[in-house]
Amino acid sequence: MGCHLTKEFDEEKLKKNPIYSVNNKTYIADAKNQLLLTENEIKLVRSSWKDLAKNGDFKKYGIEMMIKIFVNHPEIKHIWKFAAKLNTEEEMRESAQLRSHGNNVFEAINSAVNVLDKLNNTNTNLVELGKKHTLYGAKTCYFVIMRDAFMEIISESLGNNFSSEHRDAWINCFDFFISQMGKGLVE
Ligand code: HEM
Repeated sequence: MGCHLTKEFDEEKLKKNPIYSVNNKTYIADAKNQLLLTENEIKLVRSSWKDLAKNGDFKKYGIEMMIKIFVNHPEIKHIWKFAAKLNTEEEMRESAQLRSHGNNVFEAINSAVNVLDKLNNTNTNLVELGKKHTLYGAKTCYFVIMRDAFMEIISESLGNNFSSEHRDAWINCFDFFISQMGKGLVE
């Protein structure tokens, strides 16, 4: 299975400075200059995140996201040791450990979204979290599976209020999170 992030950026444009301007837009790149978010994308991410929080709670979204991963990607289910005994969606919904990871993910995203405009090279919390995921057996491409499940959750919840611009902004944002976790993750 291919395992790469969605976007590669023009290294020439990025130069050495992780925060730079092109055509009056401010971009933020990570240290490897792979991923970037415009100020407008940060606004789109923030506003849709607020809307998502209004529509429901992280626990609920977390459960639905984990169920999507387990149902659509049974090949990575074994990473969560507790998941072996979860066969039906009902069993998944009742699992305290599944709820816990789903909620953990949403809380971690919440914290990262909160500091989005203070981004420089590194979000140390995400790098540390990535490091922990080495022991859990995670891989970057599994994070991409989670990203896609997350995108379905947010798009289903916000419906018509989730535009293609919101989608692009969130993909860039989640890829940024993945790149940060990837700095700590040893595959
Ligand atoms: C598909 C990719 C991922 C896999 C396979 C994975 C796997 C795991 C496992 C096995 C654990 C330990 C047991 C548990 O808490 O259930 C864990 C903990 C955790 N995960 Fe993930 N995870 C993934 C993605 C993510 C992402 C993208 C985030 C956040 C954005 C995240 C946030 C957390 C947090 C906050 C914990 C608790 C950390 C601790 O204090 O030990 N995980 N993960």
